Amino acid sequence: MINYDLFAEQYVATVKHGGPRKAHRYLIEQLNLEMNVAGKTICDLGCGQGELAYQLSSLGAVVTGIDASQKLLSYARGLTGQVNWVCEDAMTLSSVPDESFDAVVSSLMLMDVPDHLAVFKQTMRILRPGGVFVWMVMHPCFHSPFCGLQDDGSRIVSQYAPQFWKSEGQGTLRSVLGSYHRPISQYVNDFMKAGFILDRFFEPHYEIKPSSAAQRIPDMPNHFGALGRKRETPLI
Ligand SMILES: C[S@@+](CC[C@H](N)C(=O)[O-])C[C@H]1O[C@@H](n2cnc3c(N)ncnc32)[C@H](O)[C@@H]1O
Repeated sequence: MINYDLFAEQYVATVKHGGPRKAHRYLIEQLNLEMNVAGKTICDLGCGQGELAYQLSSLGAVVTGIDASQKLLSYARGLTGQVNWVCEDAMTLSSVPDESFDAVVSSLMLMDVPDHLAVFKQTMRILRPGGVFVWMVMHPCFHSPFCGLQDDGSRIVSQYAPQFWKSEGQGTLRSVLGSYHRPISQYVNDFMKAGFILDRFFEPHYEIKPSSAAQRIPDMPNHFGALGRKRETPLI
């Protein structure tokens, strides 16, 4: 299993510099379309240093933040005592009771797990009937290691097959930990295979700001995600 402990300081700095801020904002917006989060029980799976869980708890939700990295959780505990921080593997969630949450969110974690279907199945188990799961990953087409940004802002995609990859270089987070690249169809089909009723998927286009004068083509979506629901009554 990928362990962020070695890179905890680095990841905390990334969050401080606003790294996943847009993903967090977007996930909260999507959740707000479904429910008033105040008073709801919400689990943040792969919560990292805790920013998203902290924001949800500031909105009045009763939040549990789950992550496999003890070190990132120690930062999360420093952020707030209002969230229940738990060290657990998202693929098993052995300490989490069935049907204990109204909603589950997950920001940029599923690319780190070898078995995303297991995470979908466990999430289904811990959600109450009618509960929602909203998740987001880096966009597998436009923001993957196999997608090269050209000078004019266009992209060349060299590969799309599911695979585990590590970046070149030494000592960086992705050269050491690697990541799992999966096509959109694999995420969506496995999400439904786990039993979720797919409500919508999204490819958010945040504020379009070309990063260089040469970039004449508008930027492409950074992230890909979906929102699905657990059935109110099980299929017979
Ligand atoms: C890219 S970080 C995202 C953190 C946070 N959700 C955010 O948006 O800033 C991925 C996180 O997933 C966690 N993670 C990876 N594999 C996991 C697993 N099997 N179970 C629980 N957490 C895991 C890592 O420890 C890390 O905190």
